Amino acid sequence: MKTELLAPTPEALSRAGEWLRAGEVVGFPTETVYGLGANALDAAAVEKIFAAKGRPGDNPLIVHICAAEELAPLIAAEPGPQARALMDAFWPGPLTLIFPKSEKVPARVTAGLDTVAVRMPSHPVARALIEAAGVPIAAPSANRSGRPSPTTAADVLEDMNGRVPLILDGGPCQVGVESTVVDLTGGVPRVLRPGGVTRAQIAAVASACEIDHAVLNPLGAGEKPRSPGMKYKHYAPQGEVTVFRGAHAVENILRRYDASQDALILCLENDLPRFGARRCLSLGPDAESMAARLFLALREADRMGAKTILCEAVEPVGVGLAVMNRLLRAAAFRVVDNEG
Ligand code: TXA
Ligand code: MG
Repeated sequence: MKTELLAPTPEALSRAGEWLRAGEVVGFPTETVYGLGANALDAAAVEKIFAAKGRPGDNPLIVHICAAEELAPLIAAEPGPQARALMDAFWPGPLTLIFPKSEKVPARVTAGLDTVAVRMPSHPVARALIEAAGVPIAAPSANRSGRPSPTTAADVLEDMNGRVPLILDGGPCQVGVESTVVDLTGGVPRVLRPGGVTRAQIAAVASACEIDHAVLNPLGAGEKPRSPGMKYKHYAPQGEVTVFRGAHAVENILRRYDASQDALILCLENDLPRFGARRCLSLGPDAESMAARLFLALREADRMGAKTILCEAVEPVGVGLAVMNRLLRAAAFRVVDNEG
């Protein structure tokens, strides 16, 4: 299959809409990361997403809508007051909510679960595409399973060339990490995956917000994740990633990896001078810039052939929680701290 990379002109959007209605898969930008979309109501089309990604069949997909009235047919009961308040506050935007699913949503989309994850993206190209398709779009991140998520069309092409007919190029994604996934089925909203909408923002609307234990911790042996995606290796480049955390961690990590090992260091802009002449990539000034650049930097590390990648930790608050969730998984929870 030949993969076309197109600017999101009205013609390209209407072609992409046709591909989607015909049961094909299309790569497209959202404000978080690029997605790989298919008609969410067509199980055979959704199957092609799993094939293109090499995604485990028990990991459910998020359904993307572009208008509030598209929600009702997907869910089993009227959204409660908490769900309504969160939708009013954060849709369109990087928030995914989990609802009991309706009969209309194929089991393939939800990996057999009786719930469905729904989000309304804010990116104009994503919204125009959903509208052009005229159907809700199931879309995971557009990476090959296990790889860092794509935040540019070039990253999507790197993973999906020859696997999908069309990728829409909407430029780099603003947020850079995926949406916040929130489970409302237990009373208090619970973050299963942190993302662009923060815990504090959710708590301000819903009066409370819990963070699932698995967000910053590895699953215990035999522990069943609330979100199937949590159990897989994720976001990982080919090189081995280690996180360093704390004021003295830099000395500890430099002692461990001497210059001859030629490690690639990913750190905040202010910390660049601490590494002298070593190979470094800047993640910018703060947690927001880290979120926007982390996946790009991990992909760049692969292109540089880095075998050892050392990445600076950030406080796990605000969007920093999402950064640490992705980083700890990319590093398979390898952390060097002040104790070394
Ligand atoms: O920002 C995003 O959410 C991006 C863009 C493309 O919209 N999409 C995305 O999809 O990150 P994906 O498939 O890479 O991640 C979906 C996550 C997985 O961890 C999955 O296990 C979880 O959402 N999920 C989906 N449906 C679920 C459900 N019914 N219950 C619990 N977790 C669910
Ligand atoms: Mg993903």
